[in-house]
Amino acid sequence: MERTKTEDKLIFSGVQPTGNLHLGNYLGAIRNWVDLQNNNNCIFCIVDLHAITTSENRTQILQNTREVAAAYIASGIDPQKNIIFVQSNVAGHSELSWLLSCHTPIGWLNRMTQFKDKAGKNKEKAPLGLYSYPVLMAADILLYKSTHVPVGEDQKQHLELSRDIAQAFNRYYNKEFFPVPEPVISGNATRLMSLKDGLKKMSKSDPSDQSRINLTDSADVIVKKIQKAKTDSDPFPLNHDQLTNRPEIKNLINIYSTMTDLSVDEIIKKFNEKDFKIFKNELSDVLVDKISKISVEMKKLLTDNIYLDSILKNGCEKAEKIANKNIRDLKSLIGFFGV
Ligand code: AMP
Ligand code: TRP
Repeated sequence: MERTKTEDKLIFSGVQPTGNLHLGNYLGAIRNWVDLQNNNNCIFCIVDLHAITTSENRTQILQNTREVAAAYIASGIDPQKNIIFVQSNVAGHSELSWLLSCHTPIGWLNRMTQFKDKAGKNKEKAPLGLYSYPVLMAADILLYKSTHVPVGEDQKQHLELSRDIAQAFNRYYNKEFFPVPEPVISGNATRLMSLKDGLKKMSKSDPSDQSRINLTDSADVIVKKIQKAKTDSDPFPLNHDQLTNRPEIKNLINIYSTMTDLSVDEIIKKFNEKDFKIFKNELSDVLVDKISKISVEMKKLLTDNIYLDSILKNGCEKAEKIANKNIRDLKSLIGFFGV
C-alpha cells in the first residue's frame, strides 16, 4: 500500500475468528477503527492462525472468518479505503513469527498473563502455539512496519511485548528496521464487563450467552438481555461515590456513556431519582438503534460469500505486497543466502 493518508502512520489491528463477536469487540476495538480509517492507512486482519491456538476454536473457522469480515464492513469499515484480509493467506506472518521468536527471550513470554489464564493448571499440556501466541501477534504488527495498534485493554501486555521485540531486534542489527508500535487503547469501553458478573470481562468464550450482547443479536434479544442484566437492589447512583463496589452498574453506565458520548456525570444527573427500569429501557434503545443495524447488515453480507471472499482476496493481494517486500529486506539484513 502506498501510504497515501498520514505519511508516517500505519494502523494495524485484528480480531480472532472465534465466533460470538460481541459489544466489547465493537466498542473496545472495531468502532475506534471506523474513526481512524478517515485519516490513516489501515490494515485490518482476521487472525485465524491465532484462533487455532485453542482446540475449541479450531472448528467453523471458515464461517467465523466470514463473520468477522462481515462485522468489519457492517460496522462501517470501508473495504475500498483499507486492507481487510485473512492472516493465514499471507505466509509472511508465520515466517516473521519464527524470525522474531529467535530474538525473544523465554523469560519475556513467561510473564504473559493471558497464557497463564488460558493454559490453566495444565501448562505442560498447553500447545506451544498458545505460549508463543504473543510472538505471532508481534509478527502481525511488525510485518507491515505498523506504527499504531488500536485494541482493548486486555491486549496491553501483548503490545508491550511487541514493542520490546521490535526494540531488541533493532538493537541487535543496529538499524531502526521496525518502528516501535504504539498501543491505542482509548475511550472508556476498553474493558467491557459481563452482563452477569461485573468483575468478569465480557468474552466470546463465556458459556452464558446472557453475559454479552452479540453483534448478531436481534432487537428483541438485546432488550431481553439488558432487562435481565445484573444490577443490585440499591437505587440509581446519585454521584460517583455511589458507584464504588457496584461493578455491574458501573459497566452499564459505561456502555451507555460510550454509545451516547454523554459523560458518567451527565448520565448520573439524567437518571438519578429515576427507576433503574427507565435507565435500562433507554440503554436498550441506544443499543438496539446501533447494534441491530449492524446485525441486520451482517446477516445481509453473510448471504453473499462471493462478495465477502472477493474483499478478502483483494485485501490479501495488497497485504502480501507489503509483507513480501519487508520480509525480503529483513532476510537481507539478517544476511541469509539468496536474497
Ligand atoms: P478477540 O475477540 O480476543 O480477538 O478481541 C478482539 C478485540 O476486541 C481486541 O482488540 C480486544 O482487546 C477487544 N476486546 C475483547 N473483549 C473486550 C472487552 N470485554 N472489552 C473491550 N474490548 C474487548
Ligand atoms: N491477540 C488479539 C486478541 O485476542 C488479536 C490480534 C492478533 C491482534 N494479532 C494482532 C490485535 C495484531 C492487534 C494487532 O484480541
